[in-house]
Amino acid sequence: MAALSDIGVIGLAVMGENLILNMESKGFQVTAYNRTVDKVDNFVNGRAKGKNITGAHSIEELIGSLKSPRKVMLMVKAGKPVDDFIELLIPHLDKGDIIIDGGNSHFPDTERRVNYVESKGLRYIGTGVSGGEEGALLGPSIMPGGSKEAWEEVKPIFQGIAAKVDDGAPCCDWVGDGGAGHFVKMVHNGIEYGDMQLICEIYQLMKDVLGMNADEMHEIFKEWNEGELDSYLIEITRDILAYKEDGTPIIDKILDTAGQKGTGKWTGTVALELGIPLTLITESVFARCLSALKDERVAASKVLTAGPKPSFDGDKKQFIDQLRDALYAAKVISYAQGYQMMRSAAKEYGWELNYGNIALMWRGGCIIRSRFLGNIKEAFDNNPDLTNLLLDPYFAEKIQACQDGLRKVTATAMLNGIPVPCLSAGINYYDGYRTERLPANLLQAQRDYFGAHTYERLDQPRGKYFHTNWTGRGGETSSTSYGV
Ligand code: 6PG
Repeated sequence: MAALSDIGVIGLAVMGENLILNMESKGFQVTAYNRTVDKVDNFVNGRAKGKNITGAHSIEELIGSLKSPRKVMLMVKAGKPVDDFIELLIPHLDKGDIIIDGGNSHFPDTERRVNYVESKGLRYIGTGVSGGEEGALLGPSIMPGGSKEAWEEVKPIFQGIAAKVDDGAPCCDWVGDGGAGHFVKMVHNGIEYGDMQLICEIYQLMKDVLGMNADEMHEIFKEWNEGELDSYLIEITRDILAYKEDGTPIIDKILDTAGQKGTGKWTGTVALELGIPLTLITESVFARCLSALKDERVAASKVLTAGPKPSFDGDKKQFIDQLRDALYAAKVISYAQGYQMMRSAAKEYGWELNYGNIALMWRGGCIIRSRFLGNIKEAFDNNPDLTNLLLDPYFAEKIQACQDGLRKVTATAMLNGIPVPCLSAGINYYDGYRTERLPANLLQAQRDYFGAHTYERLDQPRGKYFHTNWTGRGGETSSTSYGV
């Protein structure tokens, strides 16, 4: 009889298969199961052949093949399939056994599932896994949360298969209770959306304002990837721009409509619920929505012809340097917003998030991995209570040096009719955040004028509310004050 397995994995799509191969390569014995059992045989006789991987043809067989406490990891589509498998697994599991969801589940679902599974005497982990197919195989970033007592049981496997940074530290650590792991993965994905859109805006400026071709742009991204912007997304952009099909760049043939599976949208929605100005990421979601309206845009391009035609007669080299600074500055702002949201969520949901560790988890293996996350880790290690990344001494100096580039690039884009929703959201946030006196005094006056919503005064202590009878017809009664 084969030795009992360390872990079972359900779901043999590419992420599931690659995670299993990764686990096996690190010395773990794995059982693989899939609802369509043909896939199990194909895998065991194909990519898994000759390895310490057992195929199971039923849930019973899967459970029977596992060491106690049993660990079963779901690598299935987020949503109903996860709930269905939980129901199928529960009757076969014993007290203390662990169900793990490694898909992109929405964190409130994970929160609910942790409570439900724990109520059955079992333990539950909802974990973000980032890095795409290659990451799953060679070392992903793993962000687990849920039943804390289950962490020590899965830690050797998770940290064993995770990506490692230069000093050997794994890009995986315990995130927190309930849905904390999936929450952090959601924010990761939101940041991923923002980073991608920012690169796309820079690309359009290079192409349409500077008239650069794919090879020229490839050279610039190559150069940037050797400096402070060094990151996986810059690296793949460099390679995409160099990729030719029949001698011409494939990028020029790809339809300009973006897809999305929903994690970016969740990030924006949750930011609105928390009242956090997550403007850059949310704009990146809307940018994808606008891109998807291809037919409407084509029609509008024939009607709304008024507007500038891109042209450039300045110093090209200088503008490219400004583009680099703009990208860097906007990235810092986006991460500052993302971290601000995590702080707010931690308070709201009672999580104790370690922001330095989150940066370390994102430093390698995941889609947003970059050199710059090392600086973010340092910022939070130096001050775990940092209210905003922009206020960290290192980033404050950096952003002040780069903000001029972001400002000039955004202005140039607007004067040339190039849409830059994320770059402009970035500079607007920077200017808004550093403005001591915003025009919300007028807004409060308007609210009080038409709805007696009251206002606070500069010449009175905070928390004291006033109402003015603006028209002489309103009386002295004010509505109650409340915040959302
Ligand atoms: C990752 C990615 C991944 C994500 C895809 C698709 O961290 O490996 O974030 O989890 O699901 O990139 O996302 P969209 O289809 O929404 O672009």
